Amino acid sequence: MPIDASTSSDPLPSSWRNFPIKQQPEYPNAQHLQHVEQQLRALPPLVFAQEIRDLKENLATVAAGRGFLLQGGDCAESFAEFSAGKIRDTFKVLLQMAIVLTFAGRRPVTKIARTAGQFAKPRSADFEEVDGISLPSFRGDIIHSAEANPEARIPDPQRMLQAYHQSTATLNLLRAFAQGGMADLHQVHRWNLSFVESSPAKQRYMQMSRRIEDALAFMEVCGINSHNAPSIRETQLFTSHEALLLNYEEALSRIDSFTGKCYNCSAHFVWIGERTRQLDHAHVEFFRRIDNPVGVKIGPTIEIDELLRLIETLNPDNEGGRLTLITRMGADRLAEVLPGLIRAVEKEGCNLVWSCDPMHGNTVKSSTGFKTRQFDDILRELQQFFAVHQAEGTYPGGIHLEMTGEHVTECTGGAWKLSESDLATRYLTSCDPRLNADQVLELAYLIADAFKQADPIRPT
Ligand code: PEP
Ligand code: CO
Repeated sequence: MPIDASTSSDPLPSSWRNFPIKQQPEYPNAQHLQHVEQQLRALPPLVFAQEIRDLKENLATVAAGRGFLLQGGDCAESFAEFSAGKIRDTFKVLLQMAIVLTFAGRRPVTKIARTAGQFAKPRSADFEEVDGISLPSFRGDIIHSAEANPEARIPDPQRMLQAYHQSTATLNLLRAFAQGGMADLHQVHRWNLSFVESSPAKQRYMQMSRRIEDALAFMEVCGINSHNAPSIRETQLFTSHEALLLNYEEALSRIDSFTGKCYNCSAHFVWIGERTRQLDHAHVEFFRRIDNPVGVKIGPTIEIDELLRLIETLNPDNEGGRLTLITRMGADRLAEVLPGLIRAVEKEGCNLVWSCDPMHGNTVKSSTGFKTRQFDDILRELQQFFAVHQAEGTYPGGIHLEMTGEHVTECTGGAWKLSESDLATRYLTSCDPRLNADQVLELAYLIADAFKQADPIRPT
């Protein structure tokens, strides 16, 4: 591993530039790229180092089995589909799911949104066919436009600035929602979205809301209220994305004047995707240089030795909260692959969070041509994740979902039994299919049950 070859006196994490790299755009104009990078370097960070440290502490408690991680949001954010309503609805769905899991699991739930930076997409093929023409594959709005013509697909560095500004606006609203009353536990019943009204999970949700209201009323009588216990009226929502486009990620990294450490201040949490986690490549090198809590996606083909080396490289001090392994095996492979990985990690005494992404191993093409995922496959992968951890005596620390508060028809199944022929009704994603609010709420109850059953260290 060429780790020491990259030691650099440069304070920003630029050593990745000396390593082979995958999934990057080829910008036609290097000067333009450099100019944009300079502009980004001069802009304020999107998040603050202390918040990043707070998240790492939260994740350390998750690793220790005393918290749960909920991470979710769009597969890819888009410049066109950007509105206050969309941000609000996804925020509400995350809160709803978090409250269901908190209630069932009796643990604090750390919420990390896939937003305010989730713009760059890795692709399996360099070319895709759209309306009968072959085009360079769409790699996300931060790189180029999704329009189906060859000029639109030329990478344009200027788009990094637009992604930055959209991220600031998103974060601004999320912070206002989190601290300005929307997350108040007295509002739990109002987080429902109108189209969930007739959902079967709604009854259960309303029952739970009433129990929370009773508990709050009782606490109030005992003198505990939202004035002296701010956690009743506000919450903390962290942001995350796949740190794929390293020019952007480097330019938004900052040295914290307080600790001297380097943080990627484009988000609180960043992860390395399944396609870019090669040990001797640029993404792993970049991630070694930043002090954020980080994730790495793990697919079914990973070798045990490769995983252990990744862990050692990304978390050499075995620091709690630094590393989250996000498994994305597919419902058919998880039970066969995960136990061996868990045993190897346990044997080495690695301190980390196990999280389950039940989306990316279960993508299929529908007979109508849409990329989709079946609700039952997603549920099955999650249930097996909990069952395998239970059998191994380890802690299933979190879940990672592609989901939205919008009323979309992108994944089949769920209580409304969306079929392949329903997909065309509201298929809005700019990349992978997401669960809609209805499906998320239903899933929340089903996995809350699985989690309760699997819970090896249930607090009393
Ligand atoms: C994603 O999270 O959108 C993604 C591309 O995941 P993976 O790297 O696991 O394929
Ligand atoms: Co995706």
